[in-house]
Amino acid sequence: MKCLVFGATGTVGSRVAHHLIAAGSRPSVFVRDAIKAREMFGDQVDIHIGDLEAPGFTLPAALDGVDGIFLLTDGPNLHEHDRAISAAAYQAGVAHIVKLSTLDVLTGIGTGPWHAAGELAIRESGVPFTFIQAAGFMSNALGWSHLIRNEGILRFSTGEGKIAFIHPSDIAAVAATALLTRENDGRALVITGPEALSYREMAATIGRTIGKSIDVEEISDQQARANAVRWAGEGPYVDALVDIWRAVRQGRLDTVTDGVRQAIGREPISFAQWASENAASFE
Ligand SMILES: NC(=O)c1ccc[n+]([C@@H]2O[C@H](COP(=O)([O-])OP(=O)(O)OC[C@H]3O[C@@H](n4cnc5c(N)ncnc54)[C@H](OP(=O)(O)O)[C@@H]3O)[C@@H](O)[C@H]2O)c1
Repeated sequence: MKCLVFGATGTVGSRVAHHLIAAGSRPSVFVRDAIKAREMFGDQVDIHIGDLEAPGFTLPAALDGVDGIFLLTDGPNLHEHDRAISAAAYQAGVAHIVKLSTLDVLTGIGTGPWHAAGELAIRESGVPFTFIQAAGFMSNALGWSHLIRNEGILRFSTGEGKIAFIHPSDIAAVAATALLTRENDGRALVITGPEALSYREMAATIGRTIGKSIDVEEISDQQARANAVRWAGEGPYVDALVDIWRAVRQGRLDTVTDGVRQAIGREPISFAQWASENAASFE
């Protein structure tokens, strides 16, 4: 089976590509940077170079002979990419698209509306699909590393609200299994980590892991927004983040599902395990 992986140099896509390689397949990867892809995968993938934002980019060569696509797109206009790629996939006879989406499609919070429009575009393309509606990623906590290392204090607007962050490896395992087995065609898989935790609890878990006390300070939505603008710039992405943090505080994002176990037959990885794997980033 030939799969084409988008976002293969990123957090989830790289793990999907590694899963496919481990399963004995030779995936193609659609990447902007061939050198980066070679460093990550050696000679175990076929590389197609392209930039989804470049005007007039085409896909036919990358889609030639492809059975399944792992589709990762991002940003407020991601539905345009999802529409163009799924339409080209239909023309090329691709049998299945697995799209990384978000649990927030169900709530309309944050980036939910972006992915809802992307899911609709794929449904309309006629290509069989599986949507991976994932909770927030544990790897988002890597964004706390600078403050933990340098100040020992984190500032959140999430209050005591909880969210069941998921390990990126669990997302990738679910996506790769969907591609390889086709058992979840036509379904949206809602997947979360094993338990909903407050940001204070996650900070304490990292603190215990690295043997350092981490203070947590409560801030307003406005302060959280101003902090996010410093690293992400003004724009819809920051608006989506503040929306998500507010929803966490309001207890609207504490969903826990058994989606990972249903899809791959094992429990999802805990936040404590993720923290231990990533301890060096916080020390
Ligand atoms: N973070 C969360 O909590 C969360 C929760 C649910 C869903 N999601 C969804 O997960 C996705 C992000 O996944 P991720 O964290 O694995 O992504 P990531 O680590 O940020 O990686 C993004 C990947 O996309 C590639 N890419 C970016 N722009 C591109 C372009 N114009 N053309 C071709 N490739 C491009 C990047 O390539 P380069 O290496 O060249 O940059 C990289 O491989 C988004 O759809 C997001 O909405 C995130």
